[in-house]
Amino acid sequence: MTDSWQRSHSLTPERRLEVLNLLNRTESLLGREAIDEGRRRIVVHGWRAEHWLLYHEGLLLKYAMSTGAEHAMVEMCGGGIDEDLLQNLLAHHESLDWWTRGSMVPVHSQCQVVRTLQLMQVALPVDTVDVPPGATLRNYEPGRDEDAWLEQNNAAFADHPEQGAWLRSDLDERASEPWFDPSGFLLLEIDGRLAASCWTKVHELHPDRFGEIYIISVHPDFQGRNLGRVMVTQGLDVLRKKGVSTAMLFVEQSNVGALKLYESLGFKVVRDDRLLHFHRS
Ligand SMILES: CC(C)(COP(=O)(O)OP(=O)(O)OC[C@H]1O[C@@H](n2cnc3c(N)ncnc32)[C@H](O)[C@@H]1OP(=O)(O)O)[C@@H](O)C(=O)NCCC(=O)NCCS
Repeated sequence: MTDSWQRSHSLTPERRLEVLNLLNRTESLLGREAIDEGRRRIVVHGWRAEHWLLYHEGLLLKYAMSTGAEHAMVEMCGGGIDEDLLQNLLAHHESLDWWTRGSMVPVHSQCQVVRTLQLMQVALPVDTVDVPPGATLRNYEPGRDEDAWLEQNNAAFADHPEQGAWLRSDLDERASEPWFDPSGFLLLEIDGRLAASCWTKVHELHPDRFGEIYIISVHPDFQGRNLGRVMVTQGLDVLRKKGVSTAMLFVEQSNVGALKLYESLGFKVVRDDRLLHFHRS
């Protein structure tokens, strides 16, 4: 009998451990994330989602998650595509978007690429650009800066499908993660307003212990004044001072301004992650 995919909206504690085990094994095998950080968090905390599991002789062989009811967003552990799972998903969702990671994933013939995220990397140190006169650089302070940061960042990302509509709960979830560290979260104030921010993260448990520019943004009222360059280089400086020698970030291929900024600082594209759109035929 062939193994078949099982669908479930919640995971028992035992299944959660099996999924985490699979994610961890896949991560050490590939030397990179097995699934998006937000989706991993859903598994860790046991939140509801559409979980898809494939067992072989009692062992969990494959795992995927679909989120969003109207518009399903799918990712499979490891970043690939599974034809059988695709047909199962299309039986439940008229259309769906599926994240694939890296060039190991062949572009499926029945789909369109709707977004490409580029993973970029740079070796540290990178020359730091000074904070301009009249501006103040300081660390994010939990309990004080939440609302101002959400306002600044949502305004900067107003056109972005995921990052432009963060709620307080989205921020709080991340601020309670073990990796959250305000000493790597920089704010730039000008005339009493939050003009820009750069949130960095150190991947402490990765064998290469690299740094990440997690979220960088400049409020639209302050863009085009070199503050993006200031914030990225100041963020990279914080990472360097934490002993990190490589930094990475994700950027939309269509974000020409940001790409130019990163390229001018020495970042190079090392991987493309693609979002594929499928529709029931
Ligand atoms: C991307 C972003 C951080 C750049 O900040 P900024 O303060 O506007 O950019 P800067 O003035 O520091 O520009 C630095 C360099 O970026 C590039 N750049 C910035 N905006 C650009 C644009 N619209 N078109 C082309 N190049 C651009 C240029 O190379 C520029 O250097 P130059 O002025 O010497 O030519 C800002 O536009 C932003 O917050 N965007 C929305 C959020 C976002 O996309 N964040 C990045 C996600 S990965």
